[in-house]
Amino acid sequence: MPEMETVDLQTDLSLFKYDNLEQLPSQYRELNEDERTERVAVAREELGEDVIVLGHNYQRREIVEHADFIGDSYELSKRAADADADYVVFCGVTFMAESADIITDDDQTVILPSMEASCPMAGMAEALQVDAAWAELTAAAPDADIVPITYMNSYADLKAFCADQGGLVCTSSNAHDAFEYAFERGDKVLFLPDKHLGENTAHRLGMEDAVAEWDPWDPESKDASEVADADIVLWDGYCQVHERFTEAHIEAVREQHDDANVIVHPECRREVVEAADVAGSTSTICDTVAEADPGETWAIGTEIHLTNHLQRWHPEVNVVPLCGDACMDCNAMRQVDPNYLTWVLEGLAEGEERNVIEVAPREKELAGLALERMLEI
Ligand code: 13P
Ligand code: SF4
Repeated sequence: MPEMETVDLQTDLSLFKYDNLEQLPSQYRELNEDERTERVAVAREELGEDVIVLGHNYQRREIVEHADFIGDSYELSKRAADADADYVVFCGVTFMAESADIITDDDQTVILPSMEASCPMAGMAEALQVDAAWAELTAAAPDADIVPITYMNSYADLKAFCADQGGLVCTSSNAHDAFEYAFERGDKVLFLPDKHLGENTAHRLGMEDAVAEWDPWDPESKDASEVADADIVLWDGYCQVHERFTEAHIEAVREQHDDANVIVHPECRREVVEAADVAGSTSTICDTVAEADPGETWAIGTEIHLTNHLQRWHPEVNVVPLCGDACMDCNAMRQVDPNYLTWVLEGLAEGEERNVIEVAPREKELAGLALERMLEI
């Protein structure tokens, strides 16, 4: 088993994974947009092709406007790997920058502008909890081969753990293929950390009755052997941005707009995904709206910045937020402030690397294997 970095379970879930956290110096805090835009342009001119800036679909407008590529989490890592740039400035969250570091060459450096951008859902499957659960579940089902699958939204140590136990990584687009891969090789699946994506996938495979949940905060609440009896064990993690959407929001939007089409991210609850017209990754959401006919209405069930971008990018389509003013932004994504972007780019132009994400070598090797297995499916 790989050495997994363990944490105190009492620690805040959105804890920082790296100890090279640098705070934004005060002179960068009050920059206005014009000033920033000019300074970013000067730094980028200086750096030329040595740097590539990636922006996740959930980043704010002032960030995506500076990005060379905008996309979903895995797509951006592939962009990073395909690029020759020495520096990859990843405007997203920690697990995304880690994935970029895992699949880029060793001589490429990945920078996360703000080290405070940590996805709470990734933090819901801490190594210490996963180790404990694995020990209990494998002891409760000694004759079963359990294959762990982790969603991309997880830290590198968990990806490494999955590889070491014969498992793999998946995205929201290929979770069903990952489950099939696992069932060809084992008897049971342990899926982490998003219970909703897991449940939606089980449903898609017609296995909704074969599911049990593992609560990492209260493992005593259920008998381990009862949980281990199920073919699919779901870790009780979730995304608070996506859990917010309800069937009532879908009903309300359909009442307001007769012709409304509803598209949601598969991190939404099962009943929401079922009631929607389409469910898919942030790329699927972008492509669907891009392909819509002028005048069509699309209600979007995901992070609010992406909905706002889609309204700007496709003014011919009527893009509405699925839960109106109640739609949330992602607190982790929000940490990447455009002032931070200016600061890290100016640092690089001056020869100083700030907020570097560097996955430990052994973890990198195993997490890379888990990602390679995903590419095989
Ligand atoms: P995508 O991989 O679809 O971009 O989603 C990432 C994410 O964090 C969703 O909440
Ligand atoms: Fe994590 Fe949810 Fe934010 Fe995605 S939207 S990065 S899953 S907290």
